[in-house]
Amino acid sequence: MTVVKVAILGFGTVGEGVYRTIQSHAEELQAVIGKDVEVAAVLVKNKEKARDIHKDVLVTTNFEEIIQLPKLDIVVEAIVDREPTFTYLKRAIQRGCHIITANKEMFAHHGKELLELAEKKSVSVGFEATVAGGIPVIQTLRQLLQVNRISEIQGILNGTSNFILTEMREKKQTFTESLLQAQKNGYAEADPTNDVEGFDAFYKTMILSRIAFGEEPDWPEVERQGITSISSECIAAVEQVGLRFKHIATISKNGNQIIGSVKPVLVGKDHPFYHVEGVENAVNVFSDIVGRITLQGPGAGMFPTASAIIEDLVYVSLDHKVKRSFTQTTAPLSEQPEEQNLNCWLVQGIDKSLLYPQWKILSEPAEGFLIVEAAKKDLERLAKDHPTVCYFAILDGEFEIASDKKEAATVS
Ligand code: HSE
Repeated sequence: MTVVKVAILGFGTVGEGVYRTIQSHAEELQAVIGKDVEVAAVLVKNKEKARDIHKDVLVTTNFEEIIQLPKLDIVVEAIVDREPTFTYLKRAIQRGCHIITANKEMFAHHGKELLELAEKKSVSVGFEATVAGGIPVIQTLRQLLQVNRISEIQGILNGTSNFILTEMREKKQTFTESLLQAQKNGYAEADPTNDVEGFDAFYKTMILSRIAFGEEPDWPEVERQGITSISSECIAAVEQVGLRFKHIATISKNGNQIIGSVKPVLVGKDHPFYHVEGVENAVNVFSDIVGRITLQGPGAGMFPTASAIIEDLVYVSLDHKVKRSFTQTTAPLSEQPEEQNLNCWLVQGIDKSLLYPQWKILSEPAEGFLIVEAAKKDLERLAKDHPTVCYFAILDGEFEIASDKKEAATVS
């Protein structure tokens, strides 16, 4: 029987998870692919470190030794940073290998180039693990929603941020304690700034945008905010009124315009993301034929990420060429009125004398916190003049503004 030879670049949480899963699920892989899957080589930073890797596997710090192996079918990349990973993967494609990556930062920057090169070389690219950990959102969009016209994708896309927000609320832990736990659990990036400042979710959102719409918004136009401005007091205050913080990424198409944002918002009990807790991620896809689909599952960690990579391994081994690099909706979607400005907001650190007369105070959940009905542009102006004021949109729940009222406000 022929063998599929795999090299794994990186042996951190993700690389080790892939190696172990190839051993533990050898029988299933063999049954689906019809060939044995064998790890031929692993690229590591430090060769001396003790690792549980079979003696027949080449363990090396030198990529050249891997790319020159006499037989190599698939290169799995589980490192971080844009370089040298991009160069390694280009070399692997040029050699005729299929590639699989979990590196969202690199793929958000260079995915288009890798896909184009792969098409020229007639090999496949798997990137399921770049978005939402173990949730098969990429394959769902790429293979199962090819005709539907997608209008919006909304998601909790960073497991670390969601884990921290949950720990701070449930266990009354500090931000620092919760982040440390996320790092211990293997959820956080090597540089956790990427997680807590929203960069990781931003890269994932750009990858989703390209799949859903065939293009991305201008990156500087995308509002990106992390979770570091959310204090324990703030979390406790909103709990009094039945709200929870969720870090939500949104990408939508309005007419021909792609609009994106990545930021913390407040949701009430009726919102599908209210109960998405801990390291879980969730993705809502809105499209014209099927309506709304919600996918939910573990967003980070050794085996959820390995699961995404192993499923990609089957996908590329079966030689699924993607004719179009990404699923596309080139038809302009019907244009909706401009996003309504009137909304409910949690405002922190505001002196009541600064409130605009037209704003309505709906609740004062704790000292220093107000829930107000206000226009976004007014709040933006106020926060610009008073930088200690911060505010978060309330998406759903008791404080949601009825859509007819919003529409009336838009028209007036
Ligand atoms: N650091 C990432 C997260 C890993 O927490 O979501 C999975 O992409």
